Amino acid sequence: MSSPVAIVTGASSGIGLALTKHLLSQNWSVVLLDVQNPPAEAALPKDKSLYIHCDVGSWDSQAAAFKQAFEWKGRLDFAALNAGIDDRDDIFRTAALDQAEFGNHAPRKPDMSTFDVNLLGAYYGAKLFTHYYLRNPSKSRKLGCIVMTSSMAGLYPHAGVPQYTATKYGVVGLVRSLAPVALKVSGIRVNSICPAFVPTNLAPPGLMEAWPKSGITPMSTIMRAYDEFLDEEKAWNGQCVEASLEELTYRGTPVPPGSEKVEIDIHPLRLFDEIYRERNIKFARRSKI
Ligand SMILES: NC(=O)c1ccc[n+]([C@@H]2O[C@H](COP(=O)([O-])OP(=O)(O)OC[C@H]3O[C@@H](n4cnc5c(N)ncnc54)[C@H](O)[C@@H]3O)[C@@H](O)[C@H]2O)c1
Repeated sequence: MSSPVAIVTGASSGIGLALTKHLLSQNWSVVLLDVQNPPAEAALPKDKSLYIHCDVGSWDSQAAAFKQAFEWKGRLDFAALNAGIDDRDDIFRTAALDQAEFGNHAPRKPDMSTFDVNLLGAYYGAKLFTHYYLRNPSKSRKLGCIVMTSSMAGLYPHAGVPQYTATKYGVVGLVRSLAPVALKVSGIRVNSICPAFVPTNLAPPGLMEAWPKSGITPMSTIMRAYDEFLDEEKAWNGQCVEASLEELTYRGTPVPPGSEKVEIDIHPLRLFDEIYRERNIKFARRSKI
């Protein structure tokens, strides 16, 4: 079996950089995608790591980066879709400023790059990873693996960062809905980590200092969550794990109340999958014309 290759987005800082080092220590080769270079002091080994400049919110940028990443060692086995930013717009706190500046005119179009990076970026990454994973010439592991970084804000709304909250809820929804088909059709497991507060460069000035020390989640808890999802025996799929303080708490997919009372021959989720499969394949064929 050839040695496995991981691709990590948002790899030049915080959780992504810690994961890169963690994987390198376990004999993975790692491709780092980021809009900024990894810090020189990280001293990443040249033969086992490759940095590619990439804006995950741009399909063209991410597609070019995945192509280069695949060509590097001729395979990709694990994608940590981790790049993320916080809010770049505010509806209510800036409403008075907009009133003064724009009057009867519509205010300036909001900056939606949080959605581009956190949600579109994760979707693009899942599509690109699947494409290249299926081109691997051999297996290095039993199954492919995608782990998306959501947040506690993907489970509990965070006032003040509604865009961030919506995108992280979106990541949870993506993971739960992608996972069954990804495993069945492509042999890829899809899971998500929902970290609590980890000191990184994500926190705006002041937040880190104001945060209670007893409420800080160590990076080791986040790395433990990655280890869980990379564990081939445990073979987690469709899970969102809350990583808070020293605890990992699994948040499986909830079941709608009353669903046990509906008399059916086929599970509703399987029905969804079968109906949409045919329709989506038709869409894909049509877009080639
Ligand atoms: N730190 C926390 O407390 C915390 C909690 C919950 C979730 N998260 C999530 O963890 C992930 C990693 O964040 P972090 O805390 O390590 O922050 P960080 O700011 O230290 O690292 C994020 C990295 O993403 C990169 N990045 C930003 N925009 C990008 C883009 N368009 N394309 C490619 N790379 C881009 C940045 O350059 C940076 O290197 C994010 O998705 C974040 O939402 C963090």
